[in-house]
Amino acid sequence: MLRGPQHRLRASVAPAAALAAALLSAFGRCSVPERSDPAASALSPYFGTKTRYEDVNPELLADPVAPRRDPELPAGTCTPVQLVALIRHGTRYPTTKQIRKLRQLQGVLQAHGPGDGRRGLGAALADWPLWYEDWMDGQLVEKGRQDMRQLALRLAGLFPDLFRRENFGHLRVVTSSKHRCVDSSAAFLQGLWQHYHPGLPPPDVADMDCGPPRINDKLMRFFDHCEKFLTQVERNATALYHVQAFKTGPEMQNILKKVAATLQVPVDNLNADLIQVAFFTCSFDLAIKGVKSPWCDVFDIDDAKVLEYLNDLKQYWKRSYGYTINSRSSCALFQDIFQHLDRAVEQKQRSQPVSSPVILQFGHAETLLPLLSLMGYFKDKEPLTAYNYKEQVHRKFRSGHIVPYASNLIFVLYHCEDAKTPKEEFQVQMLLNEKVLPLAHSQGTVALYEDVKSHYKDILLSCHTSEECELPKVNITSDEL
Ligand SMILES: *[C@@H]1O[C@H](CO)[C@@H](O)[C@H](O)[C@H]1NC(C)=O
Ligand SMILES: *[C@@H]1O[C@H](CO)[C@@H](O)[C@H](O)[C@H]1NC(C)=O
Repeated sequence: MLRGPQHRLRASVAPAAALAAALLSAFGRCSVPERSDPAASALSPYFGTKTRYEDVNPELLADPVAPRRDPELPAGTCTPVQLVALIRHGTRYPTTKQIRKLRQLQGVLQAHGPGDGRRGLGAALADWPLWYEDWMDGQLVEKGRQDMRQLALRLAGLFPDLFRRENFGHLRVVTSSKHRCVDSSAAFLQGLWQHYHPGLPPPDVADMDCGPPRINDKLMRFFDHCEKFLTQVERNATALYHVQAFKTGPEMQNILKKVAATLQVPVDNLNADLIQVAFFTCSFDLAIKGVKSPWCDVFDIDDAKVLEYLNDLKQYWKRSYGYTINSRSSCALFQDIFQHLDRAVEQKQRSQPVSSPVILQFGHAETLLPLLSLMGYFKDKEPLTAYNYKEQVHRKFRSGHIVPYASNLIFVLYHCEDAKTPKEEFQVQMLLNEKVLPLAHSQGTVALYEDVKSHYKDILLSCHTSEECELPKVNITSDEL
């Protein structure tokens, strides 16, 4: 099977021999899955929010479902009693907007390539199949379902008590209304079901004893419901000033000139958005198709670092520390998480069973980033701007490390009983992408629940979405004018 259904190789132009060989090896690889990662590109670490989960957890390439007990998980006197997981959807298709830009870029190449006897990268790219179509619009791909099934199997292996079969009916599953999130939640549940019933085909989620996931956009897409965010950031043409300025700045101009020369097209036909979509296509071809795309050959590592910064700048100003409202708009989600934890603590204290041992919430990178920012994570001393690319080379804020596809932030509540002290206590641990995330107040790998709550008491007590998201009253006669 050489050609997939979306494979539209233009028959009129004979592909370069090298390209044909690349296609053969790419499709050959699909039928014989390999454990190593020959498709991985040297650019993979710079794909930002389009990073594969296995690029932040490379050990998964060898065995994606091997249970891996993190040595820093508390053991012995502490038992996990509740887990709240916030999960970004798995690998997805490009959006329609990105697909249209890619088509536009390929049009430029086909119009300006060096005519008959064309050779080189420009020609190879003009002929490289454009296998993305408008209908795909950001939907979850099969690899994305696999991301979720495998995450489910690993979490079930890591917390066998919480994920035991009897708890399946008590799972609380909430999702954003977007297809890719609803589908991610279903794939996760099917992964769990396979864990309980190996070899049996999983039923439809509607027929599972946990019931279908509940859609809650106020929680998982809080940014769509926050008037202040929408006005000050989302619909504000100047809010992403630094992103725009970087697009026309010297670092991007260098790449534009280089790429125009490489592809033999006039530099005026290119712009930062088209360059970015070319770079994204390298990431999509890898994440979705598992192939090394010739689009990757357009860039070197220095270019990739600049393009990663462009992506991070946008996340920074739109979803993170750039504006206070970006993170404050997630207060309701933060409080929801702690309400679940509070309830579990109360139930344990009354020696009742915990009613929701596992809570799964499926959302977006745009759900996770504001929440992590609200909690103070990945904050650099200086803001990311259009003008400090060089100074920010070693920044903490690298979205590819924080929110790759299938990224997950997990709160684990432990009940600890120490034989020496009769007092019982509750501890909390956070995992980001299945690795312990040190707590902000102590840098410890685990902390007393009370200490965590006290560290975040401002958010827990005085951040009310209704007030945070309310627009300041406009008074036209105010003396500021
Ligand atoms: C838009 O963003 C700019 C830059 O942050 C800010 O000065 C301005 O007040 C914002 N406009 C609105 C309507 O919030
Ligand atoms: C606007 O502000 C002024 C001075 O603070 C106040 O006297 C006036 O009543 C306000 N007008 C409105 C419509 O709120």
